[in-house]
Amino acid sequence: MPVDTIAVQGKHITLIDQTKLPTEVTYIPIHTIGEMWEAIKVLRVRGAPAIGIAAAYGLYLGIKDSPAATFDDFWNDVKTASDYLASSRPTAVNLFWALERVETCVQGHANLPIPELKERIFDEAALIHREDDDICRALGTVGAELIQDGDGLLTHCNAGGLATSKYGTALAPMFIAHEQGKNIHVFADETRPLLQGARLTAWELNEAGIPVTLICDNMAATVMRQGKVQAVIVGTDRTAANGDVANKIGTYGVAVLAKEHGIPFYVAAPMSSIDMSLSDGSQIPIEERDAQEITHGFGRQTAPDGVNVYNPAFDVTPHAYVTGLITEKGMVYPPFDVNLQKRLG
Ligand code: MRU
Repeated sequence: MPVDTIAVQGKHITLIDQTKLPTEVTYIPIHTIGEMWEAIKVLRVRGAPAIGIAAAYGLYLGIKDSPAATFDDFWNDVKTASDYLASSRPTAVNLFWALERVETCVQGHANLPIPELKERIFDEAALIHREDDDICRALGTVGAELIQDGDGLLTHCNAGGLATSKYGTALAPMFIAHEQGKNIHVFADETRPLLQGARLTAWELNEAGIPVTLICDNMAATVMRQGKVQAVIVGTDRTAANGDVANKIGTYGVAVLAKEHGIPFYVAAPMSSIDMSLSDGSQIPIEERDAQEITHGFGRQTAPDGVNVYNPAFDVTPHAYVTGLITEKGMVYPPFDVNLQKRLG
């Protein structure tokens, strides 16, 4: 991975501004919880694990100047900051997972003086950040086993280093297969409307020296039919207990195409993105984004004034289309409702 998605020196937090890629590699300092909320909302930082890490640091920024003198007052400030950050984006469960983890840490140290509690919050955010490196690397090692020398792989959106602290989830098996000396070729769907595949995945793979071919979303069927794709690997924002997977809009279509062409469809799912509280994918909240992303993408009007627009940012792929979940603890195969529980156990 050519850059750090979230860079921290001392307590100084900077983010690579992903809205500027691939033409500008710009780091922006984040000083306040409001700046972190905005960065998550407008996708300066995006991708499920990365927004979890960002939210944890954002919570620290939100309470670091709290004047609270008692635990109860401090806890109120923590909850206010956490609820605010939780309102930034609804689908990726990692955001809520990370905030809950920091809250649990605070509750577990209620006896500490407030200044020390603030330090604990920063340390917990830094731990979530560091752990993500190890999780992605482990998940990549598991996933690389699925990749043969000479394989063509297809991915949708960006589940690479930019979507995590390093390595990525769906791209981690590709990075590791490449390190292992396997020749692979990746087809990156451009991923309308915000082009995370074109702007981010193609950029990351190019920088890493992994052969990548960018295709428009509507070309996936053709490259599959031409026999150029041996496996699909995508990420997930939230996976329900039955293995239904919410990921970037268009993922469901790719899964249906993969099944039709007899191509395995794998989902790289760190444990932090699995939500066992939801029995199936119909319960996953799906973010709807501004119509302008479709009508005025990247500064140019491409649709008539006033046209009706539907812009869900994610879709749900039913588990019947998922060949296997790649997790940091090993592969999980159907039946997912039984095997996920066992893997978590
Ligand atoms: O809207 P985005 O860019 O945050 O959507 C990201 C995705 O859909 C990723 O595939 C998902 O978060 C997995 S990231 C490891």
